[in-house]
Amino acid sequence: MTTITLENIGKRFGTTDIFHDLSLSIRDSEFVVFVGPSGCGKSTLLRLIAGLEQATSGKISIDGRDVTNTSPHDRGLSMVFQSYALYPHMTVRQNIAFALHTEKLPKSEIDARVNEAARALQIEPYLDRKPKALSGGQRQRVAIGRAIVRKPKAFLFDEPLSNLDAALRTETRIEIAELHKSLDATMLYVTHDQVEAMTLADRIVVLNGGHIMQVGTPHELYTAPANTFVAQFIGSPKMNLLPVETTARGVELSAGKPALPVPVRPAEQLGIRPEALRLVAPEQGLVTGKVALSEYLGADLSVYVDTERAGRVTLRGPGTMKVTEGETVGLTFDPSEAHLFDASGDAIRGEAKVAA
Ligand SMILES: Nc1ncnc2c1ncn2[C@@H]1O[C@H](COP(=O)(O)OP(=O)(O)OP(=O)(O)O)[C@@H](O)[C@H]1O
Ligand SMILES: [Mg+2]
Repeated sequence: MTTITLENIGKRFGTTDIFHDLSLSIRDSEFVVFVGPSGCGKSTLLRLIAGLEQATSGKISIDGRDVTNTSPHDRGLSMVFQSYALYPHMTVRQNIAFALHTEKLPKSEIDARVNEAARALQIEPYLDRKPKALSGGQRQRVAIGRAIVRKPKAFLFDEPLSNLDAALRTETRIEIAELHKSLDATMLYVTHDQVEAMTLADRIVVLNGGHIMQVGTPHELYTAPANTFVAQFIGSPKMNLLPVETTARGVELSAGKPALPVPVRPAEQLGIRPEALRLVAPEQGLVTGKVALSEYLGADLSVYVDTERAGRVTLRGPGTMKVTEGETVGLTFDPSEAHLFDASGDAIRGEAKVAA
């Protein structure tokens, strides 16, 4: 049972503020994924939680106990990095057991834990090999094994799969999901990979410039992004943002043709996911444009349409869809699929009350 609470965390390197007043509560057994652009502070946040970095201000608690000033060892967390840093001269078994020897556990207990981890990670056949005789994915599993045997209160993963090729990433991702289920442990996970974030997370934390932009389930972030940043960060290809005008008639993509009813606050941008757009005859489109390019991906087709009002708009349809580069097309969508954002980029929910 492990909860982690961050209260008003500040972190400064020299004169640069990385975090300013960041608060977050992580529940027991939760799988929380951190995403955000490079340099936004994901690794720093994990290192603060692990105790490898000291917070400038604020409080960190694990299971209700204030650990802000305690050493990494006293926090009882295990961290797995992108570079697995195994000891080359030790066998897999010795690598996994290493931390347990320093804890002076009895040999029978060490053997039991190593064997159990090896079974969970399917690395039993390699226990007596040296790391150089393993593939990248196998080495990464050894690094995870090293974390498991310590029976940590929580696991912290910093882009653990980014050195693996695509097939191995998928395989190891599924293993991590299964591991989370079987250990029922709290896991914090940093990644740049959309699929990892969407599939592994109970909740995703989207960071930008040291600020939390939104915290929510993958479904919440996808269907109800709080702002244009999250709207465009989650989902690939990213959400289209089209300029709109809010008049007394409603939200208009082109003058005099309201696409949506009047919202509670004036909307400046309308967000629509590529898969929510449909191709229609130009005169039926809410927007019209010329097909600039299409990309065939097998199951899907991405179509890039250059529009006069909204610039380049991306549509995603089935791979069987037929389009011709250069043709003029109309684009339409179901209004319930549209997202509205105000001048500061915050999502607008709800319609204005219509005067009787
Ligand atoms: N020891 C340090 N001293 C000074 N600045 C640092 C230090 N460590 C990190 N930073 C700065 O803090 C910011 C956040 O870094 P961090 O490594 O947490 O980013 P990240 O989100 O993990 O990025 P990436 O996705 O590239 O791994 C960056 O601007 C980085 O340059
Ligand atoms: Mg990082």
